[in-house]
Amino acid sequence: MHKWKIVVSSVTGNTRKIADAMAEAVGTSAVDLKDTLPEAEGADIVAVGFWLWRGGPDPKTAEFLSKLHDTNVVLFATHAADAKSEHAVTALVRAAYNVGPDCNIIATFSCQGQVSEAVLARRAKLPKDDPHTKSKGWITSKGHPNADDLHEAAEFAKKADHKLELLEKFIEKKGQA
Ligand SMILES: Cc1cc2nc3c(=O)[nH]c(=O)nc-3n(C[C@H](O)[C@H](O)[C@H](O)COP(=O)(O)O)c2cc1C
Repeated sequence: MHKWKIVVSSVTGNTRKIADAMAEAVGTSAVDLKDTLPEAEGADIVAVGFWLWRGGPDPKTAEFLSKLHDTNVVLFATHAADAKSEHAVTALVRAAYNVGPDCNIIATFSCQGQVSEAVLARRAKLPKDDPHTKSKGWITSKGHPNADDLHEAAEFAKKADHKLELLEKFIEKKGQA
């Protein structure tokens, strides 16, 4: 297993649950992304978890991603939208766009995360023609991340670790050729 640094930005705890499931799978613990940006030096893989805000990574995460350089990166997120939706996929692309120079993004994972009751109550007051009132994810995210999501996150982390191992072997082989 590689040396992982798992950094997570989570306000209502959804992304933190995913981070903890991944951390347990790779034998580490996740660190909160607070006002002081954590140190990422020395890790083989820096996994960064965030919640979606306006269709992209939350601002704290965007700042942290931009500070990374010369490292292997795993991106993971939770969001109201369905994980296969264009919205969720584009958000991961936007996060990747923020990553600093010479990084290798080895894998990405995302799943739905329940929207807080306070946000749902605000949404309920929006006019009918507001584009947000049509997004079903705000309702279907209820109960996520669930046990299946956490299991998937743990499996994902193990696979990402193996992926890097294969990549390293391939690079080594190429160097010898
Ligand atoms: C201010 C705000 C903006 C949000 N924007 C989006 C968004 O653009 N797309 C989306 O799918 N979910 C959005 N969400 C839902 C959260 O990303 C989702 O509930 C997430 O799981 C919260 O993660 P956390 O519990 O780790 O804080 C938003 C939530 C809030 C409160």
